[in-house]
Amino acid sequence: MSRRILITGTAGFIGFHLARLLLAEGIVVHGYDGMTDYYDVELKRRRHALLQAMPGFSATEAMLEDRAALDAAIDGFAPDEIVHLAAQAGVRYSLENPRAYLDANVLGTFNVMEAARRHAVRHLMMASTSSVYGANPEMPYAETMQADHPMTIYAATKKATESMGHAYAHLWGLPTTMFRFFTVYGPWGRPDMALFKFVEAILADRPIDIYNHGEMYRDFTYVGDLVRGIRLLLDTPPPQVEGRDTPPLEGDSLSPVAPWRVVNIGNSEKVRLLDFVEAIEAELGVAARRNLMPMQPGDVPATWADASLLQALTGYRPQTDIRDGIAAFVAWYREHYRQ
Ligand SMILES: NC(=O)c1ccc[n+]([C@@H]2O[C@H](COP(=O)([O-])OP(=O)(O)OC[C@H]3O[C@@H](n4cnc5c(N)ncnc54)[C@H](O)[C@@H]3O)[C@@H](O)[C@H]2O)c1
Repeated sequence: MSRRILITGTAGFIGFHLARLLLAEGIVVHGYDGMTDYYDVELKRRRHALLQAMPGFSATEAMLEDRAALDAAIDGFAPDEIVHLAAQAGVRYSLENPRAYLDANVLGTFNVMEAARRHAVRHLMMASTSSVYGANPEMPYAETMQADHPMTIYAATKKATESMGHAYAHLWGLPTTMFRFFTVYGPWGRPDMALFKFVEAILADRPIDIYNHGEMYRDFTYVGDLVRGIRLLLDTPPPQVEGRDTPPLEGDSLSPVAPWRVVNIGNSEKVRLLDFVEAIEAELGVAARRNLMPMQPGDVPATWADASLLQALTGYRPQTDIRDGIAAFVAWYREHYRQ
């Protein structure tokens, strides 16, 4: 029988790419997405329409907080594994509307965990974020470093899901992997993120806001690399506590009391914001009008992943060059928006 995977957030940027990858492999996928209006719902509908055209895909359109709908979808589909990506994302919006993060990320994730426990799925995988490293100045960030000082409610709710996931992994022996993603970009990307906003503004001859006067660094991760990492980790569930016969890998975040670990998925290269802007300008062949701004509240000056745990577990390390990734995004953007 075909493998069955339930993915939440399939109308979203990362969920869409992951679903496409798994469907192409012949895996049966059920998507669950509430089509929230945090950004352009039309873009979400187009992503879902592409998935609907692939054999093996079905979907439920409902919110995570709607427990009856979530239970019905998961009970009806009976997944072998669950990948939970739906969330209220975005660092900056969490200053405006913190409640949306509590609802979607804390209560919504709890509902997913309950269903995963009931079905005793082989592996539950859930998205966290590099933002949980918060104010930690030590870099590159490794999973075993402290991540106890979140700077936003977004980061705090994601840290909460890591802890909740650990408790369920311990109590119910539910193999759980938490991902910490680092600034993901690529075709079909999010309109609220820098690459999309910059390309859109530059092509419309509008100025772009560059925070901290461009002295910001991000570990940009190409979405194709990211979903490949997820795919490989899917087959690497954390082992149960009983029967562990090999010592943990060096730098492993594997819990001593639960089948639970947290894994960074990042490119391991920090890119200066101004270099990022220059690479976009070079690809578009247009100079940006730059609006240099101070640092925004809640923002961190840099993120940088140590991706050696991912490599040790899967043999894989993301490696798309930022220029190639930007070129792929721009090609998609021009075609999609006929620019
Ligand atoms: N993109 C990044 O750079 C990045 C970085 C770190 C972590 N993450 C995490 O990865 C995951 C996927 O992010 P993305 O970039 O694809 O975001 P996205 O906003 O494109 O996708 C999230 C999807 O979840 C759905 N959703 C949101 N709240 C919901 C709710 N309460 N009920 C049902 N559906 C809901 C939305 O409609 C959307 O389609 C998120 O958990 C996010 O926090 C993303």
